[in-house]
Amino acid sequence: MLTNGAIWRDTDGNIIHAHGGHMLFAQGYYYWYGENRTNDTYVSVYRSTDLMHWEYRGDALTTGSKTDSYRVRTDTSLVNARGGKINIERPKVLYNGKTGKYVMWMHVENGIDYHQAACGVAVSDTPDGAFTYLGCFNPFGEMSRDCTLFQEEDGSAYFISAARDNADLVIYRLSEDYLNIDVAVQRLFQGEYREAPALVKREGIYYLFTSFCTGWDPNQCRYATAKAIEGPWSMLTDIGDATTFDTQPAFFLTVQESGNIYYVSDRWNGKDYHDSRYVILPLTFDDQARPQLSFTDRITIV
Ligand code: GAL
Repeated sequence: MLTNGAIWRDTDGNIIHAHGGHMLFAQGYYYWYGENRTNDTYVSVYRSTDLMHWEYRGDALTTGSKTDSYRVRTDTSLVNARGGKINIERPKVLYNGKTGKYVMWMHVENGIDYHQAACGVAVSDTPDGAFTYLGCFNPFGEMSRDCTLFQEEDGSAYFISAARDNADLVIYRLSEDYLNIDVAVQRLFQGEYREAPALVKREGIYYLFTSFCTGWDPNQCRYATAKAIEGPWSMLTDIGDATTFDTQPAFFLTVQESGNIYYVSDRWNGKDYHDSRYVILPLTFDDQARPQLSFTDRITIV
């Protein structure tokens, strides 16, 4: 059993740093990727079979990661002009069945100001290998901040990110190899300043959860639904309480055997980022397929 909002430790007894993260099921394990801003690390990866005990597997991305210029005119620097760390946020990873590669997408800022608003891509042959950074760019010139990835059963995948200084959210379909953006398929919530997107599909309905834009401070989560990812999308509906139980969405976890869905979120500590915590809550649905989220202190993921 995990206590929501407590310090969670890996099987070595170290604090788990997987903020703004994502999980992927591969080769019999759940892999948990997330921001780790300690030392030279950007993204750490943990794995588990029971979703309770997490083994640290290494750093997927660091200031010293290998880089490769996959796309033309893509900024592949992992340190900024002042020699400091850049900012890598909300890393998400999918497995591409066609290429056999694990592909990470993330939000990239230069670590000096917050104006780069770019998306970054990295790739690895193994889920917990060292990823090669393929650089960052502005998709079709758009700003791109808080983001998520979503994979369809047919293998097509989508990247969703906050654009126009967070005013809008754009859904992009990825290229077949997941290493680039193919086309922007939808632009949502114009002027609503929705961020921290997390998308889950259940019984043919897409549920897109987002927070409002208040930095590290939690706010009211809202969701929209659609029967196709390109829309039409419903209007936004509140879910959870006014601070979403002091959380911001990171991603949805669908458990392999049970099909149960969990809302996995960050409880940020804006004063001490490294002390940010996690909250995982079951996402349930009423008989009209409306999602329900309520708080529970202790959680067993089944
Ligand atoms: C939040 C965002 C986080 C982080 C933070 C920085 O709005 O969701 O991922 O970027 O702002 O202030």
